[in-house]
Amino acid sequence: MAQFREIKPSELTENPFNLIGDEWMLIGAVKPDGSFNMMTASWGMVGIMWGSPALNCLVRNTRYTFEFTEASPRAAFSFFGDSCRNQLSLLGSKSGREIDKMRSSGLTPVTDNGAVWFDEARLVIIGRKLYAHNVAPGEFTVPDLCAKVYPKRDFHRIYTYEIEKVLIK
Ligand SMILES: Cc1cc2nc3c(=O)[nH]c(=O)nc-3n(C[C@H](O)[C@H](O)[C@H](O)COP(=O)(O)O)c2cc1C
Repeated sequence: MAQFREIKPSELTENPFNLIGDEWMLIGAVKPDGSFNMMTASWGMVGIMWGSPALNCLVRNTRYTFEFTEASPRAAFSFFGDSCRNQLSLLGSKSGREIDKMRSSGLTPVTDNGAVWFDEARLVIIGRKLYAHNVAPGEFTVPDLCAKVYPKRDFHRIYTYEIEKVLIK
């Protein structure tokens, strides 16, 4: 396994807008039977929830990864800088239901306690699932936004993970 060192969430110096919005992340979780999947995501937040360092992410229930985030009490959020952009595009455009994405990416999966990431990552955030809820169209306070971001009404499930571990190279 590549040389990661563990740091405290408070030691992260990343700009969260660039980190998630531009760099993208892989969300990876493992089912109790040991199978796993990852997908690319560029919507999410890091901060403090209920007094703990936390990460929120959004997963549509049509994603294969959804089965894994639902089944696992943990997930990993891995970041790759500019490297692996092609692989992140693949993992964000093909479903693990269609192809063996984990193998065709050519990257090296590492599983740990319900979370999975690729060893080639530069940064890995491992989280414990605290809370999940489905986006409810009636809860938008700006009605136009719902129609704009969900024209097909394929609403996300929003997960809150407590950040348990941060690994960095
Ligand atoms: C840059 C980028 C960002 C994405 N962000 C999200 C996201 O935040 N939530 C989501 O549900 N899907 C997102 N997707 C789409 C999924 O990654 C894509 O549907 C993927 O093929 C799902 O794989 P799966 O079926 O194996 O889970 C994104 C795709 C890309 C390329």
